[in-house]
Amino acid sequence: MILQLNQVSKNFGGLAALMNVSFQVNRNEVMGIIGPNGAGKTTLFNLITGVLTPSSGDIIYQQQSIVGLKPHKLTEIGLARTFQNIRIFGQLTVLENVMVGAHVRSKAGLWHGLWKTPFARREEGNIKQRALELLDFVGISNHADDTAEALSYGKQRRLEIARALATEPEILLLDEPTAGMNETETTELRDLIQQIQVMGKTILLIEHDMHLMMSVCDRLAVINFGKKIAEGQPDQIQSDPAVIEAYLGKEAV
Ligand SMILES: Nc1ncnc2c1ncn2[C@@H]1O[C@H](COP(=O)(O)OP(=O)(O)OP(=O)(O)O)[C@@H](O)[C@H]1O
Ligand SMILES: [Mg+2]
Repeated sequence: MILQLNQVSKNFGGLAALMNVSFQVNRNEVMGIIGPNGAGKTTLFNLITGVLTPSSGDIIYQQQSIVGLKPHKLTEIGLARTFQNIRIFGQLTVLENVMVGAHVRSKAGLWHGLWKTPFARREEGNIKQRALELLDFVGISNHADDTAEALSYGKQRRLEIARALATEPEILLLDEPTAGMNETETTELRDLIQQIQVMGKTILLIEHDMHLMMSVCDRLAVINFGKKIAEGQPDQIQSDPAVIEAYLGKEAV
């Protein structure tokens, strides 16, 4: 087990966005989070990555509570994410966007960086090399010198994944990575997720594309109106009455 949520709740004023949600994520698995719009999926990611603090409950990462840690600290200890609404530096080049991610791991402090010491220059070279490899891995290295805003939507999503990988995460959280992608791009993304799993990473994935989720996830948790209503392997989830009801309404059960 790499991540564990214990009775996590989050209230926004009078709105209970999440209520006593508990589940575990095993190392190196692809864990899916599904649920209707507004169920609380992104809120869950915001709690895990320190963007929000739980109203109650605990989040344990590698045997240690991470509640209260800031997002940058969580990135340092191995959690990286992409956003439902793409967040890239549009004016920077594609390569520079990935290099920004890699700087989380850079050893050269401000002093070395400012004075361009040989150590800093060598490290910058390594970071650039690594960033290029990651662009190649996600399939957009031919766009390295383009400005990020010039990329198609699907390629911007891959860029976000490359930048997240540049922080060398243990867990990668992807919030609707196929949103805005066509069918070919979605298939390619599924392959990419599987390759990332082969690299040894743990993946938490939010997606509405059920076909993709059932084929790529080892296990899934289903959230409905802020509550976890099911957890299990894809075939268990597909035949779970509570899940069918949440998606299709009572009469379908
Ligand atoms: N920062 C916030 N302040 C107030 N309410 C919020 C905030 N973030 C989310 N909410 C509310 O919490 C609920 C859950 O939102 P969330 O974005 O987590 O849903 P979601 O499952 O990701 O939905 P979608 O599939 O549409 O992305 C919604 O009612 C939303 O309006
Ligand atoms: Mg969301």
